[in-house]
Order: sequence, then C-alpha cells, then structure tokens
Amino acid sequence: MVGVVPTMGFLHVGHRSLMAAARNECGLVVVTIFVNPLQFGPNEDLDRYPRDLDGDLSACAAEGVDIVFTPSVHELYPMYPPATTVHVEGLTDSLCGFSRPGHFDGVTTVVTKLFAIIGESRAYFGRKDAQQLAVIRRMATDLCLPVTVVGCPLVREADGLAKSSRNAYLDADQRSAAPRIFGAIREGVAMIVGGTRDPHAVVASIAAAIAEIPELRVDYVAVCDAASLGSLERLDGEMLIAVAVFCGPTRLIDNVAVSIVGSEVISDFGSGWVPEG
Ligand code: PAJ
Repeated sequence: MVGVVPTMGFLHVGHRSLMAAARNECGLVVVTIFVNPLQFGPNEDLDRYPRDLDGDLSACAAEGVDIVFTPSVHELYPMYPPATTVHVEGLTDSLCGFSRPGHFDGVTTVVTKLFAIIGESRAYFGRKDAQQLAVIRRMATDLCLPVTVVGCPLVREADGLAKSSRNAYLDADQRSAAPRIFGAIREGVAMIVGGTRDPHAVVASIAAAIAEIPELRVDYVAVCDAASLGSLERLDGEMLIAVAVFCGPTRLIDNVAVSIVGSEVISDFGSGWVPEG
C-alpha cells in the first residue's frame, strides 16, 4: 500500500508523526511538499510562508520516506487559476471556512489533484487541522476516491503550543503568550469535566481567558459537534473545541476533541505536551 502525507513543507515533528504513521503501515511512503497558492486569501501569508527544502529532505530521509514530491505551481496548475475546483458543502461554512473564505476550496482542489496523481493510497492528515480532516474525509467519500483518509494525533510543543510551521513567525513575546491558547482550552475542558453542559459558558470562558492576554486576539472559539461541526445547544457525545487566535499578525489554530459518554468526559489533548506537576 502507498502512504501519502500531503504537506506545505517547513516540516516539524507534527508532520514527522504523520510520516512515521505512514511508514509503520505502508510499503511505500510519499511526502508531498507544495505551498498551494489556491488556499491562501489575498491578504494572507503566501509570499512569506516559511520554506526550507534542504531541512525538509533531511526530515523525510530520517523518517524513511521513499519519495518526496515537490511539484511546481505550473505542474499542479497548468492554467492558473483553475476553472475546475472542488467544493465541499456545509462542513466548510463555519470556523476556518467562515474566517478564510475560499480556503477549503483551495485545499480540497489541491488534495484532489494529489490523490489523482498518487492513486490508491492511505493518506495521513493531522487532527491539528480538525476541520480540514473532516472536509477531506467527506470529499474522499463523496467522490469515491480510492483513498483511505487517516487522522493522526495533534503534536504539541512541551509548553502546550500546537506545533505549526507558522510558529516560526512569532517574536519572543508572542511565543511566550501563544501557549495560553491551549491553557484557555484546558480551562474549558476542566469546566466540562466539572459538569458544565452549556456550550456558550465554555466558549465564553475560553474567549475571556484569551482576551486577557495582550498579544492574543480571538478569531473564533467554538464547541461543536465533532462530525458535522454544527453548533450544539447542550454538550454531549463527540465534540470538538476549535479555536483560532491572532498572535500579532499570525493566525494560530488549536483543536481538542472531547467526548461525553454517560458521566465520563474524555479529552484528546494530543501528544508531546508535558502537563505541569
Ligand atoms: P500543512 O500545514 O503543512 O500540514 C500538513 C499536515 O500536517 C496536515 O495534515 C496537518 O494537519 C498536519 N500537521 C500540522 N501540524 C501538526 C501538528 N502539530 N500535529 C499533527 N499534525 C500536524 O495542512 C496543510 O499543510 C495543507 O492544507 C495541505 C493539506 C497540505 C493542502 O495544501
């Protein structure tokens, strides 16, 4: 089986965890590195998105990757912009889809191209981008693509900040403020563990904790249904706490899955983070 890990490069341990999962389960591992212009808005960071092909190739070699595919824009978009795009209804309306209009059409269009080139495969995506994972899963199902979409745990820095290529943009003050995003989410989870079942109370607490930090500005905070990403009137079942925050000009996202089964609350904070105490 072919395992594919689509990326935009500037690879870190989060990307590497996907490669390791693919290496573990597949005979041939392909990593794609392509900074996809179609998924960036006009005022976003396409021009300054961090790149380090030499470092990326070393990371791929260290993970035992067989093929690194680094297409040019012309190869993936013989005519730009393309007249043909892929749009997933519904799941793309909220959260990052609301804040970044057109973003997910860019993602689903490029991922469809990569899947068309690579063919039958298992494709590995991080739960760091939980909405992206849900959108790509739905796309693969709707279009009968010969691809099994595999979700992998979010990898954090030791201080709890979700690993991201965009963390490279943060200055020292922003970098020390950024882990407070995860701190605010953990407080929200603690409320749920403590019995709160009103999603608005949890959202308000997370937003207020983030608003206290001068370096941070909330883009959105949501507690939604994990499958539909729809809003909830009462917390129950499989849910997602989804947060996007501007840290200076840099937009960071974090996602924590929480499920309530009977009276038990189970949360998935991901890996890499070392809880204090
Ligand atoms: P990129 O941001 O490079 O991420 C590539 C893959 O790595 C995605 O599946 C993402 O969820 C995963 N990833 C990033 N940070 C992670 C972390 N801290 N823990 C676990 N996984 C993490 O996502 C994209 O690129 C693009 O939208 C792409 C799918 C390649 C389409 O252009």
